[in-house]
This record gives sequence, C-alpha cells and structure tokens, in this order.
Amino acid sequence: MSTAGLFRFTFFSIVCLSALTWWLLRPEPLPGIAVAEDYSAEADIRRGEYLVNIAGCVSCHTDADNSGAYLAGGVELVTTFGSFFAPNITSDEETGIGAWSFADFARAMHLGIAPNGERYYPAFPYTSYTQISFDDLRAMYDYLQVTPPVKTHIGQHKTPWYINRLLLPAWQSLFFKPGVFRPPSHDAILDRGAYIANALTHCSECHTPRNLLGASRPELFLAGTEDGPDGDPVPDITSSAADGIGDWDEYDLLLYLEDGELPDGDYAGGAMVDVIDNSTSMMTGEDLKALVKYILSVPAANNRSSGYPGSE
Ligand code: HEC
Ligand code: HEC
Repeated sequence: MSTAGLFRFTFFSIVCLSALTWWLLRPEPLPGIAVAEDYSAEADIRRGEYLVNIAGCVSCHTDADNSGAYLAGGVELVTTFGSFFAPNITSDEETGIGAWSFADFARAMHLGIAPNGERYYPAFPYTSYTQISFDDLRAMYDYLQVTPPVKTHIGQHKTPWYINRLLLPAWQSLFFKPGVFRPPSHDAILDRGAYIANALTHCSECHTPRNLLGASRPELFLAGTEDGPDGDPVPDITSSAADGIGDWDEYDLLLYLEDGELPDGDYAGGAMVDVIDNSTSMMTGEDLKALVKYILSVPAANNRSSGYPGSE
C-alpha cells in the first residue's frame, strides 16, 4: 500500500471507529414522562411575582387608565423634567424584555444601563432598585420571563431639548451611587423594613425632595416635597410631630398602608393610592410590620444628622 493509501486507510478507520464509539455511547433520548413542576423553580417564580408586586413595577409599567395589558408599558410619568413613558417589560422578545439575559436585566436594575449601553433616566427608580439583592433580582427576572408576552409600541419621552440621554452619564456619575443594601441596625425586623422601604418600595423616590438636577437630598430624607410626581405635593413622613407622622402609632401606619385609611378616618389620595393598591396592600403581614417599624424609626429631618441609613 502506498503512503497515501495507508494514510487514507488510517484516516477512514479512525473516522469509522469514532462513529461506532459515538453510536454505542450516544445518550439515550429521555423517554416521555409527565414530571411534576420543578418545585424550587416554581417557588422562585412565585417569589419573583411577590417582589415585582411589592416593588410597584405595575404602577408605572401597566397603563391601567387606558386598559393597558399587564406590564406592557405606556404609562406617562409627568415630571418637572418632561414626560416619560414607561416601556414594555413583558416577555415579548421584540417590544418587551423577553430577549434579555439576566445580566442585561441586572445591569438595568443595578446600574441604570441599557443593553445597548445607553443610560436610563432616573424616572426609572434604579436609584433605589440598585440595592435589591441579586437573589431577589434573579427571582424577579425569572418571573418577568414567564409573564404573557404582549406587543406594544411605546412613544418617545417628551423632554425639552436640553434634557437628553447625552447628559445621563454625567448625571449618574454626580448623583448615582450603584450600591449594595447596608442594613442599618442589628435588628432583623428593622433591617428587613429598611430593605423593603429603600430597595423595593422606594418610598423616598416620592417623599424625599430633589435638588434642581433631580437628585434626592439625603439630608431631607422622607421629609416631603411640594413638587412630587404629577406636580403634586407629597407629605413629610418622618417622625416630626409638627409636619410628619410623629403622632402616628404602628396601628395607624399599618391601617394606612393596608387599605389607605388615615387616622382621622379620611382616605389616601393622589399617587399614594397606586402605592397602596399595587404594593403595600399586597405585602405579607410580616413584611408590612417590618416596613412600619422602619418608617416610624426615621427621625425628623430637622433634628437629624445627615446620613440616616437608607438616606443616600
Ligand atoms: C416610577 C416609575 C417606575 C417604576 C416604579 C418602575 N419603572 Fe421601570 N422604567 C420606568 C421608566 C420611565 C423607564 C424608561 C427609562 C428610560 O427610558 O431612560 C423604565 C425602564 C425599565 C426597564 C428598561 C426597559 C427597556 O426596554 O430598556 C426595565 C427592565 C424596567 N424598567 C424594569 C422595572 C421593574 C422590574 C420595576 C419594578 C421592580 C420597575 N421597572 C419599576 C419607570 C418605572
Ligand atoms: C409614587 C409616589 C409615592 C411613593 C412611591 C410613596 N408615596 Fe406615600 N404619599 C404620596 C403622596 C402623593 C401622598 C399624599 C396622599 C394624599 O394626598 O392623600 C402620600 C402620603 C403618604 C402618607 C400619609 C401621610 C400623611 O400625613 O397624610 C404616608 C404615611 C405615606 N405616604 C407613606 C409611604 C410609604 C411608607 C411609602 C413606601 C412604602 C410611600 N409612602 C411611597 C406619594 C408616594
């Protein structure tokens, strides 16, 4: 046999032997069998649903006033910087976030950066969500990926010409600290309450006044503002007896956050109605009690040294 022939023979023998070995060792296709849902994955998705609820995503991403589909976007958020339209975050691959990886989602929620590298406006409260734990983010992502996909085309934000995405990297470097949640105490309930208030339900996004460039003023944490969402005033909810809720007890705040009833028998109005309906009324009793305990622990703005845990 010539050298070339020997080479061909060896080559084909190797190929045939490999094919035979592969065929003998090939993985058996799994027989069809009805298996129970993977318990832990299902439990994670339910936990994700709970977190998405209490973090208030629905308030902005579901256009309830115009019978918009669940999380399919379109809500107009009117601010002093213009009108922002919350996008579609259903699992639709084209107009929602169905094609996003977990890394894309985590980058948006923790860093305020879109998959194409653009920065988000702080009308999307990633300034609070940055404190959500990776574990919770993962559960939220898993849940969002199984929401019914809905196709919608959301309009462009309406802002004056000088407010645009080119400013956002500078805004973020001045005013946004991507951060992990720092428990304020060694009390597990108080810490859980702080996490719920500051990372998830973002009370301070509305209740803390902002500076001229739209950044929260930590020294006035939860002290209220004349200029809240939709231009409405938002009350002081620190323990200031004069302006805040210093004279509320745990029961008062619990009742208010559960069904909107004020200590004087009146009911919540304005943007707080959505917060109660879509978020605080859906909390477990345990989480609600923790939230109440934390909020009642926030000192009045005027007699507090700045830097109260959660205020940055
Ligand atoms: C206060 C209103 C508000 C709330 C609450 C809110 N968002 Fe948004 N979200 C927005 C706005 C506005 C944008 C668009 C920001 C931009 O274009 O720069 C946005 C953008 C996003 C994006 C990026 C989508 C894309 O197509 O680029 C994701 C993901 C997102 N939000 C997820 C969430 C989740 C999850 C929650 C709840 C944990 C949530 N949002 C709560 C207003 C909100
Ligand atoms: C989307 C903006 C927004 C968010 C987020 C928000 N609030 Fe409010 N809150 C308001 C507005 C507006 C009012 C005034 C309601 C009214 O006019 O009846 C209010 C009122 C209140 C009051 C009643 C105070 C009083 O003196 O009457 C309490 C207590 C309160 N909020 C607690 C909270 C807590 C706790 C959170 C976080 C879990 C929170 N809010 C998140 C906008 C918001």
